[in-house]
Amino acid sequence: MKAFYSFPLLFLPSLVSATPSDLTTIELDKRACTPFKNPLTNASGCCDIVSAQLFWVDILLGIGVCCPIGQVLEGFNCVTPSSGGSVCSGKAVCANKTGVDLGIKYGHCYVLLSLNNNYLGHDNALKYVVMGENPGVVFRVCGDTTTCTTSADQYVPVNGTWYMQDQMGDPNGSGFAWLGGAGDLNIVNSTDQALAMGGSSTCFGGNCAICITFPPGGAHAPCPLTPGQSHLGIAANPNSCQNFYWQEVSCRSENQLAECQISPSTAKSESVGYVAQV
Ligand SMILES: *[C@@H]1O[C@H](CO)[C@@H](O)[C@H](O)[C@H]1NC(C)=O
Ligand SMILES: *[C@@H]1O[C@H](CO)[C@@H](O)[C@H](O)[C@H]1NC(C)=O
Ligand SMILES: *[C@@H]1O[C@H](CO)[C@@H](O)[C@H](O)[C@H]1NC(C)=O
Ligand SMILES: *[C@@H]1O[C@H](CO)[C@@H](O)[C@H](O)[C@H]1NC(C)=O
Ligand SMILES: *[C@@H]1O[C@H](CO)[C@@H](O)[C@H](O)[C@H]1NC(C)=O
Repeated sequence: MKAFYSFPLLFLPSLVSATPSDLTTIELDKRACTPFKNPLTNASGCCDIVSAQLFWVDILLGIGVCCPIGQVLEGFNCVTPSSGGSVCSGKAVCANKTGVDLGIKYGHCYVLLSLNNNYLGHDNALKYVVMGENPGVVFRVCGDTTTCTTSADQYVPVNGTWYMQDQMGDPNGSGFAWLGGAGDLNIVNSTDQALAMGGSSTCFGGNCAICITFPPGGAHAPCPLTPGQSHLGIAANPNSCQNFYWQEVSCRSENQLAECQISPSTAKSESVGYVAQV
């Protein structure tokens, strides 16, 4: 008997006497407190989504970062946008140390501006294109294709590679996706098809840029488009590369379709129901 009651005992007195409206309040409280696991520390926490905002890094794995309302996610850190941080400074990222790093950081998020001042985005389907129908894809620079925590917050070294997590994803799919494929590079769901990217520092008119490649190859537009537009593609020659100004932006929270969503209250409400039946 004692063992049977040992876990719920703490909550038992208030729950046993709970009226239906109290139970509703408990349900709401449980729902407002969403469990999550921190990507860097693996610490489990509970985010009060009334007074804070939970940014999902991977909603299916339950990995996220809980930030006070008004703060945004820079890499895996909560920052106040006006704090003079690099999120939305509008400045193109420059190497922290020339010849050592590229200036972009693992785990951080960026938009890519072409030399003709158009943002890299999607066309009306799955291809990446400069000056397309859906400009301005937010990419997270990832050292791995699972939790994106490899080398988190460290600068990408000059010879480093990374994967581009596409935080807009497949318009007809769900969740985040990856930059990958072959030919005209496109949005892929499968991490197997995600492409490793490399780059070198360069500079145009006083603005730092990174010329991207797809090691061991280079990068080049694979087909002719309207001038100003270009697709991304893999080139055989590693010297060939595609230039972009990289601007840091805050990372986005992964959302899922309603029917795919984990119900954060499920586990808790089960235990509430169990105790109430006792
Ligand atoms: C977090 O968990 C993952 C997988 O369980 C493990 O690979 C990683 O080393 C852990 N990280 C920390 C900081 O404990
Ligand atoms: C960035 O550069 C500064 C000055 O050279 C150096 O002190 C700092 O350690 C560098 N930061 C990283 C993360 O490498
Ligand atoms: C999404 O689905 C619609 C309807 O099937 C289709 O017309 C459209 O081309 C699809 N878009 C993409 C990006 O696959
Ligand atoms: C990058 O260069 C450093 C220093 O030259 C070297 O230690 C490291 O192994 C290189 N990494 C790769 C992936 O080539
Ligand atoms: C991604 O997955 C979704 C749902 O599983 C599917 O509808 C979509 O076609 C996939 N997209 C790609 C680019 O494979």
